[in-house]
Amino acid sequence: MISGKKTTPTIIIIFGGSGDLAKRKLLPAFYNLFLDGWMPDQFAIIGLGLHSFTDAQYTDFIEEGLTQFSRKGKPSGPSWDDFKSRLSYIPSNMNEEVTYTTLSLKVNALDLQWGFRADRLFYLSIAPRFVEVVAVNLHKLGLAAHAATDRLVIEKPFGHNKESAIALNNLLTGLFQETQLYRIDHYLGKETVQNILAFRFANALFEPLWNRNYIDFVQITVAEQVGVEERGGYYESAGALRDMIQNHLLQLLCMVTMEPPVSFDAEEIRNRKADVMRAIRPIKPDEVSKYAVRGQYGAGWIAGKEVPGYQEESGVNPASNTETYVAIKFYLDNWRWQGVPFYVRTGKRMPEKTSSITIQFQPIPHSSFPETLYDSVTPNRLIINIQPQMDIRLRFTAKRQGLEMNLNPVEMVFDYDSCSTQTPEAYETLLLDALQGDATLFMRSDQVLIAWDVVTPILESWESHNSLDFPNYSAGMWGPENAEALIARQGHTWASHLHGK
Ligand code: BG6
Repeated sequence: MISGKKTTPTIIIIFGGSGDLAKRKLLPAFYNLFLDGWMPDQFAIIGLGLHSFTDAQYTDFIEEGLTQFSRKGKPSGPSWDDFKSRLSYIPSNMNEEVTYTTLSLKVNALDLQWGFRADRLFYLSIAPRFVEVVAVNLHKLGLAAHAATDRLVIEKPFGHNKESAIALNNLLTGLFQETQLYRIDHYLGKETVQNILAFRFANALFEPLWNRNYIDFVQITVAEQVGVEERGGYYESAGALRDMIQNHLLQLLCMVTMEPPVSFDAEEIRNRKADVMRAIRPIKPDEVSKYAVRGQYGAGWIAGKEVPGYQEESGVNPASNTETYVAIKFYLDNWRWQGVPFYVRTGKRMPEKTSSITIQFQPIPHSSFPETLYDSVTPNRLIINIQPQMDIRLRFTAKRQGLEMNLNPVEMVFDYDSCSTQTPEAYETLLLDALQGDATLFMRSDQVLIAWDVVTPILESWESHNSLDFPNYSAGMWGPENAEALIARQGHTWASHLHGK
């Protein structure tokens, strides 16, 4: 969200540096920022992890990641030589003191070499249970002691429930300033998600319509084709509600529903988002089944390939009660949104990967057309396709060409593919913001806690009552049948799945 290249020397320290996220997302993001001229002239990246890599082996590991996952493909040439000369690795155990003394020696040596105490960005790409030991040791050695320039990026999930999130917050804010803490939700870095703010607040056209008087309902879908992959162990203790709804989907809901901010100041935007989160009507424990549906995938077919059910995945309890699909009907108790249902759903092993937001406007109040044309007039619909297709579509009704009066739905489309520039990855945007000290797209502690409040009644109800029908959808289907029933009560159906049409 900020412009201009960072100029002060910076050391980036990645805990979990030999992990999947570092390989797939973090290092490709730093490398692309470097190629595009956004990294400071003086910077170094230190990975820490359990793997016993030498620096050279670590560089090979990162090269493999870039080749496989970077939007710019295999690294090569002088730029890659320059970048890799800045990479190093400390084989280490986060529970041992020696890890932090070795790290301290290394960063001090770099400071000495540059003749400048560099800014420090610590990326905690680690399981939540390790955050405490890392934070305490960083504090003990004064490694992040410069509040204005040293920052910690903390991966989700932030806590396992509200109590643990409060405990984690208390611990972190006891050791560091809140302004040093960057709680990341990578959905907020997605180009199409950021564009929701531009779309809403840089145009006069939509805002007057953006309320209960004109909008009938809103749907947010984040569907994935993948299953739980190698993450069965983590997922068993998370489930889709913690893994996706508590963070990504609630953040999308905030972007669509927040009041216009007075300025683009980080605190102002975060305040407006916290306001809507607070307006979400609490779901009473005995009403969970009225508002929320859970699902778990069984074996099935994805893209012509047979895939196992969730309970057969490695690291998963064969009688697991963990949900891999969630659909929820939310209401917001404020003036703008009173009475408008917000349907959100997410699931693994769906027929296709697609994330989209559908805003359905009210039907016309009266049809002037002959009765035979009644059904041809469909309500206006705005579809924001977030990924992998990236576009914004406005559906309206038009006359079909010809001598007779016939009506057809048509679309006006803004397609990102029509722009020549490559779209940066979410992590590029967010890491650059963290480097530059812009917290607008990161979650503040109160937001995280309210998000836990929103999901807690559902979590508790589902954890105390095992589902009797798991698995209740086959891989390759759009979730369980009762997800349709959830919204059919209002006379609505889920937007058909091909790009929200
Ligand atoms: C992560 C979840 O936060 O987001 C994963 O832990 C999920 O389970 C992923 O697959 C989805 O991200 P994206 O960017 O591929 O939609």
